[in-house]
Amino acid sequence: MATVLYPGSFDPIHLGHLDVVEQALELFGSVVVAAMHNPSKPSGLFTLDERLAMIDEAVAPLRGDGREVRVAAFPGLAVDASRELGTDFIVKGLRTGGDFEVEQQMAQTNYVAAGVRTVYLPCKPALVFISSRFIREIAKYGGDVSAMVPPAVLSQLQRATFD
Ligand code: PNS
Repeated sequence: MATVLYPGSFDPIHLGHLDVVEQALELFGSVVVAAMHNPSKPSGLFTLDERLAMIDEAVAPLRGDGREVRVAAFPGLAVDASRELGTDFIVKGLRTGGDFEVEQQMAQTNYVAAGVRTVYLPCKPALVFISSRFIREIAKYGGDVSAMVPPAVLSQLQRATFD
């Protein structure tokens, strides 16, 4: 069994993210979902605490049968999170070629700078269109995002205050 770090903004966590957590659990057995944040930047739609609470609730059903999911907040670099949280490597989900371009540069930088490797997991085809940015945008105008987010997130989006 390996313990892997799944870093992201998770503003908010959605069904595509949960698919990556499930795949990583199947393959490696133990996942730390880390909400990365920059304390000197505004938090986005949800505060860090709100994001953590939604992640916690969303991943709860995935635990069990020897599968471990931890949830953490981390300010700063993903490679430092990996070291401090004791993970073996980073996992990232790939939806499209566009994701690959971005992730490949980060993965190579993280390996050269800190020796931390990244493993990519292809997202389930039925979920590749989902993005937190579009979820926020649709929810802001009262649209239906119920096919894209877990129930914990749906109820928070219905209560959220948008700028
Ligand atoms: O959900 P996102 O926004 O695609 O996640 C991006 C995230 C937070 C995983 C990425 O920006 C990140 O790792 N940030 C932490 C800062 C860091 O390690 N920067 C160096 C990248 S080479």
